[in-house]
Amino acid sequence: MIAPPAPSNPDAVIPRLDVDWVERWRSLVQARESQAARLRAQTGLDPPVYWDRRAEGFRANVQQRVGEADRLLQLVSERAGADSAVLDVGAGVGRHALPLARMRREVVAVEPSATMRGYLKADAAAEGITNLTVVPCAWEGAGVPVCEIALCSHVVYSIVDIAGFVDKLRRHAAQYCFMAIRTGLRDAQLLELWKLVHGEDKVPEPGFLELYNVLHQRFRIAANVEITGFRRPSNPLGMFSSPQEAAAAVREQLYVAEGALKGAGVEEYLSTHLVRDEEGRLFLPGPRVGAAIVWWENRADSWNLLA
Ligand SMILES: C[S@@+](CC[C@H](N)C(=O)[O-])C[C@H]1O[C@@H](n2cnc3c(N)ncnc32)[C@H](O)[C@@H]1O
Repeated sequence: MIAPPAPSNPDAVIPRLDVDWVERWRSLVQARESQAARLRAQTGLDPPVYWDRRAEGFRANVQQRVGEADRLLQLVSERAGADSAVLDVGAGVGRHALPLARMRREVVAVEPSATMRGYLKADAAAEGITNLTVVPCAWEGAGVPVCEIALCSHVVYSIVDIAGFVDKLRRHAAQYCFMAIRTGLRDAQLLELWKLVHGEDKVPEPGFLELYNVLHQRFRIAANVEITGFRRPSNPLGMFSSPQEAAAAVREQLYVAEGALKGAGVEEYLSTHLVRDEEGRLFLPGPRVGAAIVWWENRADSWNLLA
């Protein structure tokens, strides 16, 4: 008599990788935050009101790029009917919210930074845009209507509860969700200097790989992905007009106060590592970092939603 085959156990052949991606995300964000808080305290630097301080530079960057092709905007426009309402979570100065308000019925922009909101509202008013509602708070506490489309571009890097954040996003999108996130580290070109200055490795931020796995593991979403490039500089840290400007920006990224003992090493390092581009601007070369556009159809019969 032939014995019936033993029940198959795939785990015995190929061991399972038991990564809890939501927990991995939480650990990365918390470890990065506590490292930053510890180093800032050592140098006596106040925690910066991060996005408020970056708002002016962001607006200049967005304004320079008006009219340039924006792949996320293109993908959203292809899927949003003229009568759609679009929710933009972490809208910043309106890189996507303003053009979408020009093209679609309504845009709801959630933005916690007062300075970012100030620019967004001023630019909307200057254009006579009246179909944009700006909600002044973080996404976690925002009360907004469900829209056809929800988008969230380069916001989630320091969100501790990524599952709660994404869950709320998908519950507010009747048709599609779009998220943009870096494929690599924003500050990879600073890691060597970081270690020289602090004597320890910088904790990395979560990115595309972690987000994709959170979506898949926690929400059973098999999202579409398109990888796009950043305009030069490939590192979003920036281009500088002088060594002094570069040193100030890098010191800020490294939590090193001006004149502090550790600061001396920064200038020395920059004097041998800064490179000039063809227009004479200075930058720190580093690995190329792309942006992933991760998006899915959020309807019950969508092929993006796993059974
Ligand atoms: C890198 S900017 C991106 C702005 C815009 N989405 C874009 O792609 O140009 C990140 C924005 O997210 C906002 N933000 C940070 N935490 C947030 C949260 N918990 N909820 C909503 N927005 C948040 C910041 O204030 C900032 O304006």
